[in-house]
Amino acid sequence: MLRTHTCGELNISHLGQTVTLCGWVQKSRDLGAMTFIDVRDRYGLTQLVFNTDSDDSLRETSRSLGREFVIQVTGTVLERTSKNAKMPTGEIEIGVSKIEILNGAKVPPFMIEDETDGGEELRAKYRYLDLRRNPIRNNLMLRHKMAQEVRKYLDGLDFIEVETPVLIKSTPEGARDFVVPSRMNPGEFYALPQSPQTFKQLLMVSGFDRYFQIVKCFRDEDLRADRQPEFTQIDCEMAFITQEDILNVFEGLTQHLFRTVKGIELGSVPRMQYADAMRLYGSDKPDIRFGMQFVELNDLVKGKGFGIFDNAELVVGINAKGCAEYTRKQIDELTEWLKRPQIGVTGMIYCRYQSDGTLKSSVDKFYGEDDLTNWAAAFEAEPGDMMFVLAGNAEKVRKQLNELRLEMGNRLGLRDKNTFAPLWVLDFPLLEWDEETSRYHAMHHPFTSPKPEDIALLDTHPGDVRANAYDLVINGTEVGGGSIRIHDRALQSLMFKHLGFSPEEAQKQFGFLMDAFEYGAPPHGGLAFGFDRMVSIFAGLDSIRDVIAFPKNNSGRDVMIDTPSTISDLQMNELKIKTAL
Ligand code: AMO
Repeated sequence: MLRTHTCGELNISHLGQTVTLCGWVQKSRDLGAMTFIDVRDRYGLTQLVFNTDSDDSLRETSRSLGREFVIQVTGTVLERTSKNAKMPTGEIEIGVSKIEILNGAKVPPFMIEDETDGGEELRAKYRYLDLRRNPIRNNLMLRHKMAQEVRKYLDGLDFIEVETPVLIKSTPEGARDFVVPSRMNPGEFYALPQSPQTFKQLLMVSGFDRYFQIVKCFRDEDLRADRQPEFTQIDCEMAFITQEDILNVFEGLTQHLFRTVKGIELGSVPRMQYADAMRLYGSDKPDIRFGMQFVELNDLVKGKGFGIFDNAELVVGINAKGCAEYTRKQIDELTEWLKRPQIGVTGMIYCRYQSDGTLKSSVDKFYGEDDLTNWAAAFEAEPGDMMFVLAGNAEKVRKQLNELRLEMGNRLGLRDKNTFAPLWVLDFPLLEWDEETSRYHAMHHPFTSPKPEDIALLDTHPGDVRANAYDLVINGTEVGGGSIRIHDRALQSLMFKHLGFSPEEAQKQFGFLMDAFEYGAPPHGGLAFGFDRMVSIFAGLDSIRDVIAFPKNNSGRDVMIDTPSTISDLQMNELKIKTAL
């Protein structure tokens, strides 16, 4: 090895030892009589000292070092005169006797510091430099640790890690596929997997019983802070289990990760019906770090001559505790925020519970003191609270109030990154109506089994059929989802029929799976965690980008390697792809 120690490990116990370190020059300070240089590697920083006793060529070399030069130094561990208690190596320095420049470096385009001056675009272009910074490196180390703990836990429960193919078949369900042209089969394409769903089910048919894989998935969808076109799942499947077993095993995994990685005892994960999540939080992924549950007011507010409420399908509000003192300006600003097209509220009604115990609303003309007292009782409001009320189409207004609730949670400091509130959301609807295509889509995926007692509703009220499907939500982020699967050909065919597939189309797309179900498919189910999302929550980040070594930007580009990019005519010809131009 080119070094005897790392830059993070030397301390007072090494005094007098001759050591060799390698690393990057973090910074140097030339004080005339002495030159100090901090050398950095992934383990830490160590101070090097060159003084008047050092020979001239050594001092000259030390002065020629620029930031990020790669050096090898040999010297003696000395006790520092001015110690730095904040650094593990802060009590010592190395009196250098030999130095070698292993490689020079251009001046980096931004500071390699915890707080850098580099903008996002620049850091993305030089991602390999950004990865030298502690915060990003720490995220990747956290990711590594979590991956190891996932393997430990699942291996301990007899799960087998199996790799599934990356070149698979395009299917019409779910998000858009990324496709790969096949040179050997001109005009035909592979698709990259959106998840290994069908393969893991086939592994259950093969008798593997307990499968997992930490696996890349690919989805060509619009990107957001918590979505990347390629991302990683902890993908799992089990045979001969009930939904309860799955919830327990993966609640166990979540607890194991919090315990071993963060030292947090999570306790058991509460459960909520999808229908309750929508009713109380207007979201299938409620952030339950705070309450502020929805209060429905239809019974209290209708028939008093206020058209907006009378004509609304749903009148619903939240109690923003302690916000009665909000000024008119603050309320107007909040209303404007809600009116942005992303949320699309047309107006907001409010009612203050003033500290003197009186109630004052923006609709005093229609609702007297008695009415407002009833509102306050419904909201369990106290003096000092503010009630915000929205009205309109039920589905829409719940979504809008969800946004307002989360915003108020932020403003009131109720969404602390170091508080973790996991939640199982259960019994999702099986199908979801899609306005664009005027047909039902599988809410989770077409292999999810309906609740047996709801199967009869498939023909009459398809939208009411519930699925044996569940999501794990942490702090308002969907970190995982899964279901008990259909393992019977007839039921699977029925599902495809309800999803608008002709029997021929279903056979063409998914015949392999339905055929497999005829060769002894065990009852099975599973789930997949979004690994990037899980890591970002552990790291306290809003975006998954910085827990991925080489992420894409919001346009799906990797600006470092500059892709996607065009390919040569030769490649196009080989692939028999005609240019659009
Ligand atoms: P689902 O589509 O719910 O289920 O995905 C599972 C989890 O993957 C994460 N996730 C993403 N993370 C980052 N970027 C994305 N674009 C992205 N899309 C999804 C989410 C999500 O909860 N095969 C099923 C699982 C199963 O039924 O077992 C599946 O893929 O955290």
